[in-house]
Amino acid sequence: MTTTRIAVVGDIHHGQDTQTKRGSMALALLDRFVAEVNRGSFDAVIDLGDRISDEDPERDRLLQSDVAMCFARLAVAHHHLSGNHDVACLTLADNEALFDLPSGSRALIIGDVRCVFWQPDVRLTRARGLHLSAGDLDVLVRLLGQDDRPTLLVSHVPLSGHAQTGNYYFEANPRHATYAEAAEIRQAIADAPCPVVALAGHVHWNTLTTVDATPHLTLQSLTETFISGDPAEAFGVLEIESDELRWVVRGREPVSIKLPWPTKKSRWRAPLPSFATSGAA
Ligand SMILES: [Fe+2]
Repeated sequence: MTTTRIAVVGDIHHGQDTQTKRGSMALALLDRFVAEVNRGSFDAVIDLGDRISDEDPERDRLLQSDVAMCFARLAVAHHHLSGNHDVACLTLADNEALFDLPSGSRALIIGDVRCVFWQPDVRLTRARGLHLSAGDLDVLVRLLGQDDRPTLLVSHVPLSGHAQTGNYYFEANPRHATYAEAAEIRQAIADAPCPVVALAGHVHWNTLTTVDATPHLTLQSLTETFISGDPAEAFGVLEIESDELRWVVRGREPVSIKLPWPTKKSRWRAPLPSFATSGAA
């Protein structure tokens, strides 16, 4: 197995500046990301979604077109998912048309690595939080179930259900950080024949959370400022080689993690029931 190298960017949020997102710098930072990727040796680029900060349909088309033009300068293939801001005023089909690329759920091979891109419903309102739509979970089960090779599972919204303590957006809003159906998603990943490493954006910080032997990584946003006061300029580099995975995030909030690239499925022992109700300790 040769080394597979994937450059990852997420939560670009091109558009207006907000309290914590430096949207006005997004295109310049994305241009720099593209130039660095083209100078390096990567098999592909993955975009985790939230390419824009939504305003209205007409403006969002322009913002997405700006981002698409940047990605078009890449010398390597780029694979996209759409985030809640991409589909707030536009549809998934609009996004696919603007990029002339798929943004739906699919399995594909990058280098030597099997990847599943999962695009469940990402529409988000303040009152509603995140919910799967009919059929979304079936798609995940089907795509993971097709193959027992180790699989990189890519989604916009993180699937680990990790704690949001300290997160600017989500500490007080955990229902907006992951799906209401997190338990069913966790079961689908645990029951899949393939070992999984999961990668997501959305929560605008770098994390590693391991659930049932599945490592879940999240990548900081390109333009988020809530941690350092300046755009994080996060540039993820994922390297997978035989039985090792290396995850490095460059920028203002650097991360370097080395993990096993799992070659066979393993399962943790099921957690005990509540001590309060079972009497166990
Ligand atoms: Fe975002």
